[in-house]
Amino acid sequence: DKGNFRHFMAKEIHEQPEVVGHTLAHYVDFAAERIVLPDLPFDFRDIERVTIAACGTAYYAGLTGKYWFERLARLPVAVEIASELRYGDAPLAPGNLAVFVSQSGETADTLATLRHAKANGQHVVSVVNVPTSTIARESDVVMPTLAGPEIGVASTKAFTCQLVVLACIAIAAGRARGNLSEDDERRLVRALTEVPRHMTAALALEPEIEKLARDIAKSRDVLYLGRGTSFPLALEGALKLKEISYIHAEGYAAGELKHGPIALIDETIPVIVIAPHDRVFEKTVSNMQEVAARGGRIILVTDPQGAKEATVESLATLVLPHMPASVTPMVYALPVQMLAYHAAVIMGTDVDQPRNLAKSVTVE
Ligand code: F6R
Repeated sequence: DKGNFRHFMAKEIHEQPEVVGHTLAHYVDFAAERIVLPDLPFDFRDIERVTIAACGTAYYAGLTGKYWFERLARLPVAVEIASELRYGDAPLAPGNLAVFVSQSGETADTLATLRHAKANGQHVVSVVNVPTSTIARESDVVMPTLAGPEIGVASTKAFTCQLVVLACIAIAAGRARGNLSEDDERRLVRALTEVPRHMTAALALEPEIEKLARDIAKSRDVLYLGRGTSFPLALEGALKLKEISYIHAEGYAAGELKHGPIALIDETIPVIVIAPHDRVFEKTVSNMQEVAARGGRIILVTDPQGAKEATVESLATLVLPHMPASVTPMVYALPVQMLAYHAAVIMGTDVDQPRNLAKSVTVE
């Protein structure tokens, strides 16, 4: 049932404050402001390396998780595309942790890497949305996302719930490894608790985003840029746009701009810059200046401080509330999803069932 929405994707985008709240409630003791994970058959202090494997949007959630594990838990992380890990030669030292991220829990390549990791003595944790799925059944520990059924082929609410679960695991790991204090944990939990409220504020930008989508829909190519945790979101934004609107899009780490993609920039290219006012903001602003100097039409997604300090001519600025850097990916995902959604609606594509795609990819 789509309720009052035209597409499942729109409904699922709008469900995010609620389902992210549900997912949080599963991992957070709100009164104590602590993370509570299910019992683990290993100690985070014994883990030397984490491998995260997934496909598509779930892979981008994993890429975001890497930043959190490294910062909060000081754990080295390798994020692998499941189809690559599967046939690659990555050495997996026994006793380490492997995390598999999947909405459906049935993705063939992700399942194959899970079995490969298990055979190589990894502790297997899965972050899945379907608790009865094969990936869930074959894992040592299941960390469910409580997104509810996701019908639209383009993943939206499952992605933000995956981010929440990965952040919770990283915080718990940081605590267990003595890298975070009790106070750090409280501060991080409080930031997570505010995410649904910020998401509601993000959804209120929809009329503005719908207008910008008209410009996107006229474009042949679109570039997404971000640094830090906004980099995987740039990749996700580009994937979302291409899969449902069929407009060519690419995501880049903003610092990579001058190593190639800058050659593409001219007056016809919208450049979506995802840049909360965080510790890499200034660096992203200088990349924006390079884009602006070549006539690229910038759509900046930022916060009030970022909007004030970005001294660059942009086509539009989408202003989200201020929030701690630890939670920007969850919230900034929403404008990115809405932009793709509205561009696709304008293009007249089959938003919920884009051509050539299946919701669950059970063949390799
Ligand atoms: C993109 C999308 C796909 C899936 C990928 C993995 O919107 O939906 O890229 O993310 O096929 O699927 P799951 O998460 O079911 O393993």
